[in-house]
Amino acid sequence: MARGRFITFEGGEGGGKSTQVKRLVARLQAAGITVVATREPGGSPGAEAIREIVLKGAADRWSPITETLLMYAARRDHIERVIAPALARGDWVVCDRFADSTRAYQGGAGGVDSGLIDALEAEVLGETRPDLTLVFDLPPEVGLERAHARAGSEMRFESKGLAFHARLREAFAAIAAGEPERCAVIDATRTMDEVDGEVWRTVSERLAVHA
Ligand code: TMP
Repeated sequence: MARGRFITFEGGEGGGKSTQVKRLVARLQAAGITVVATREPGGSPGAEAIREIVLKGAADRWSPITETLLMYAARRDHIERVIAPALARGDWVVCDRFADSTRAYQGGAGGVDSGLIDALEAEVLGETRPDLTLVFDLPPEVGLERAHARAGSEMRFESKGLAFHARLREAFAAIAAGEPERCAVIDATRTMDEVDGEVWRTVSERLAVHA
């Protein structure tokens, strides 16, 4: 059985990723592919429990290093119990956020040393690396306004201020520029349908899917 493909969605707040994950999953299923749709932090019972504590409460509840460790604890459980078994079965996995979010939020924007993140990434991810990462890009002012419009209780990162979100955008752009063969930048300022069309074109071209 060939290993399945692993697609991740990344980017700042309010880019419409979650809607686009659903649309992509529907398109892949229509193409006859078995897909596991999941998210981070979370995606397995243990990782969802960590999500509860890491995303709620005051903005300074956890330091960026503590956040990094919590994200990686959640990620390891998610990989062991959900992502790696699905890929081994030949299923495709579409994940709303993954390791690049830690590199951008806790590293680029939060100031955590990239050496720690490199080490965690090497040790915890192992072979479980995305085949394709769609990086949703939009100005932080626009994204934060959209995110606040749908505000819930998981607001720790939305409430970190514009300078944080500007650094975040730069960090995602740097990741995409550094690994162009894995990453595609998606202009998320456009309409849902335009973004959906570009996501599908990118996935079908890069991963050779035929609808
Ligand atoms: P969501 O709003 O896309 O569900 O993402 C949850 C929040 O968690 C979002 O504000 C980004 C943040 N996050 C990190 O800071 N580091 C990470 O590694 C991940 C996966 C998410």
